[in-house]
Amino acid sequence: MLQLELTYAQEDPAHDPEIEAINAEAFGPGRFTRAAYRIREGGAHDRALSFVALQGGIVVGSVRMTHVVIGTTPALLLGPLAVRPEWKNRGIGRALMRMAMDAARLAGHRLVVLVGDAPYYEPFGFSKVEPGQISMPAPVDPNRMLACELVPQALENVSGVMRHAARAWTAFLK
Ligand SMILES: CC(C)(COP(=O)(O)OP(=O)(O)OC[C@H]1O[C@@H](n2cnc3c(N)ncnc32)[C@H](O)[C@@H]1OP(=O)(O)O)[C@@H](O)C(=O)NCCC(=O)NCCS
Repeated sequence: MLQLELTYAQEDPAHDPEIEAINAEAFGPGRFTRAAYRIREGGAHDRALSFVALQGGIVVGSVRMTHVVIGTTPALLLGPLAVRPEWKNRGIGRALMRMAMDAARLAGHRLVVLVGDAPYYEPFGFSKVEPGQISMPAPVDPNRMLACELVPQALENVSGVMRHAARAWTAFLK
């Protein structure tokens, strides 16, 4: 069988339909009610910090980053991260994580948060946030609310409601 090379790229608008299909497959219709989704629907994600895995030009994995504000502190919300079922367990998820985190660090961001399974994300520097420190627009299992400080103490004194950055700044200007 012909094995086409696996490559990685910064996300492009042309990838959108395939990424939507991957997320629909991975998370199902329930994704629309998830807390993180509800924040993300407040505006665009940052394509400069979002990446795809491609096999022969077809998207087989995706990770996105969205600018958010927690209380008054800017941060990045990582996700969704998803890999097509037939491509799982080949290191694609980890490679996408490394690319997104490196890009965030290089761009000078201080804090990345996500809702996900701690055992998968801990190796990238994520750990559980104190219950109640960050509020989401829908209930979140506190064991799944994770943060990674890209600079030391970036999470210290951060608290409040997480909103999409576009929504937060509009609210502040009112
Ligand atoms: C999670 C996901 C992105 C991982 O992608 P992947 O390319 O298969 O991951 P990798 O190949 O880099 O890593 C595989 C390892 O992660 C582990 N892993 C996968 N999902 C995990 C999870 N939810 N929690 C803990 N470990 C997990 C695998 O067991 C495997 O472990 P091993 O290396 O010890 O055998 C993929 O399984 C997926 O799309 N899942 C559905 C969507 C999802 O749950 N997204 C993340 C939200 S938490």
